[in-house]
Amino acid sequence: MSTDATETAAAETEAETNVAAETEAETDAAAETGTATETEPDVPSPGERRREAKRERAAERDAEAQREAEDVAASADDTVHLRVFRYDPDVEGKTEPYFDDFHVPFTKGMTVLDALIWARDNYDPSLTFRHSCRQAICGSDALFVNGRQRLACKTQISDMSEPVMVEPLPHSAVEKDLVVDMEHFYDQMEAVEPYFQTNELPEDELEEQRQTRENREKIKMSTRCIWCAACMSSCNIAAGNNEYLGPAALNKAYRFAMDEREGEDMTEHRLQLIEEENGVWRCQTQFSCTEVCPKDIPLTEHIQALKREAVKHNLKFW
Ligand code: SF4
Ligand code: FES
Repeated sequence: MSTDATETAAAETEAETNVAAETEAETDAAAETGTATETEPDVPSPGERRREAKRERAAERDAEAQREAEDVAASADDTVHLRVFRYDPDVEGKTEPYFDDFHVPFTKGMTVLDALIWARDNYDPSLTFRHSCRQAICGSDALFVNGRQRLACKTQISDMSEPVMVEPLPHSAVEKDLVVDMEHFYDQMEAVEPYFQTNELPEDELEEQRQTRENREKIKMSTRCIWCAACMSSCNIAAGNNEYLGPAALNKAYRFAMDEREGEDMTEHRLQLIEEENGVWRCQTQFSCTEVCPKDIPLTEHIQALKREAVKHNLKFW
């Protein structure tokens, strides 16, 4: 090779080296400024891929569980047919009330609440209803079942004719499916001051506030209220007059007005509360509240007793 040729080759090699170095520098700069990502395809991160796979597995499991539930219901010797009220103001297509049918495998001792839970867990997780204790203590699952207010957890499916119609409590605004707004009911309860109040305290601060056996017996049934609102829902007067205190609140007023430990001043205050325009005299003695109360409280009897006390309280002797 001639000297010229050698110099030309050396110059070309140097130029190529410079181009390679510039390209590398540009790549580094692009990486630093983030411009390289604009041209690369959007590849999910390993975390996103894992989450997506998890979602897919969960959806498969749900679908499988639903298929199994349908198989179980189809192969069960005995199923119960529920027709359940549905409504959801936030979901398109459910803003108008309608009924859903569920066929639930029957088991001995099954309650309406058990059947609803089975339907929710196996057919439709969006089916909404309140419940907690499952033993007629918390009062959260009062519903309108086959045309009557009942606690779902206390109502045996075997006692119901089919289809078992399950609806929210009448005369209350429905929030979603079987859940009603309880605020008005709680307001009425609050209006009668449903707590023990007395100025007559025992002399010794550690002494108990004793009650006689007879007095305890008198108020015993009234203390059983679990605030389920079944009575209020069944009452025609409460349905027509939103201000009426209603049977549960009047029963609560009875519970404290008849408690001899509160003292005369407080009894007088309590009688004034229930004598208001929308108090005890609104009751028309229809017995519907007594009929539906799941704790068998003689509500109408208690309201009548309050009326008698109110009359005595207002009698004037000259
Ligand atoms: S009085 Fe009976 S029906 Fe009414 S809220 Fe209390 S437990 Fe329920
Ligand atoms: S679930 Fe508590 S009263 Fe029915």
